[in-house]
Amino acid sequence: MKETFRSDLLAGKTTVITGGGSGLGKAMALRMAGLGAKIGIVGRRLDKLQATVDEITAAGGTAACATGDVRDSAAVKAAFDAVEAKLGPANQLINNAAGNFLSASEDLSDNAFDSVVRIVLYGTFNCTRELGQRLIARGAPGEVLSIVTTYVHNGSAFVLPSAAAKAGVAAMMRSLAVEWATYNIRLNSVAPGPFPTEGAFSRLLPGSEIEKQAKRRVPSRRFGEHHELTSLVAFLMSDASPYQTGDIVTIDGAEALFSGQQFAGFAHLDRGMAKEMMAALKPKK
Ligand code: HXC
Repeated sequence: MKETFRSDLLAGKTTVITGGGSGLGKAMALRMAGLGAKIGIVGRRLDKLQATVDEITAAGGTAACATGDVRDSAAVKAAFDAVEAKLGPANQLINNAAGNFLSASEDLSDNAFDSVVRIVLYGTFNCTRELGQRLIARGAPGEVLSIVTTYVHNGSAFVLPSAAAKAGVAAMMRSLAVEWATYNIRLNSVAPGPFPTEGAFSRLLPGSEIEKQAKRRVPSRRFGEHHELTSLVAFLMSDASPYQTGDIVTIDGAEALFSGQQFAGFAHLDRGMAKEMMAALKPKK
């Protein structure tokens, strides 16, 4: 990918990214570091976190990591302390850590529901409150971004804990965008459609046939590329978007619209054939 932003777009930003050792979190960490942000990644597995820090450092960026489970508010506080001790005060947060799996909702155990909701909803609250308290105490401005999903608007069958928790996250960002504007803290959500990662795809789109069907729901018939998502995230986390707050920005190649449009399937027919069929339906004069 050829970089299209100025290389100092994120200079002066120190960004904590949860779940930053793999998947989309790692992609955001690498891209933002390349644009001048100092990156603090927090996650459960030190080996993955350290490998990402090493990759950023080898590319000339600045990064540190701390282990911690976002479900545990004391661990979140300790992780912020550890990252700030290495990088200086944090002024940004990306709530990226998530948990999800496919299950019929009537079969969910207490612990299954609890695990996903605690990671997604409580984890986002723990981290957002932690950064918010620090920014407010220092009188510093900042940015918070939460990665949600396109089903945040309408829910989704078979991923009920995630759908409920992500809707809560979006509501949290919107509530705080109003409440913390006085502190110059911006909060937004990004709702990605299908961007392939090991973590999500192994749990949610297992197998090439299901993947093929998923691609057919995207008008362009392709999944998103990581740099397309990280470009949006870099813009929202930069000083180029000072008036953007309380938003939920969808990036899905119009997949969600396609799924909701009655005649969307025609877009996948050969256009000549589709036009012939429509012309044949036109009443003859
Ligand atoms: C039913 C399941 C299950 C499954 C786990 N459980 N997997 N129930 N079907 N497939 C149940 C367990 O049986 C247990 O309940 C409870 O959930 C907790 O499981 P643990 O494995 O002990 O929990 P933990 O180690 O904390 O792991 C949390 C997790 C796991 C959410 C279950 O999947 C995880 O760590 N995921 C992180 C990464 C991830 O999910 N990435 C995808 C994000 S994608 P019992 O009752 O047996 O104790 C995303 C956006 C999607 O969020 C957008 C798509 C386009």
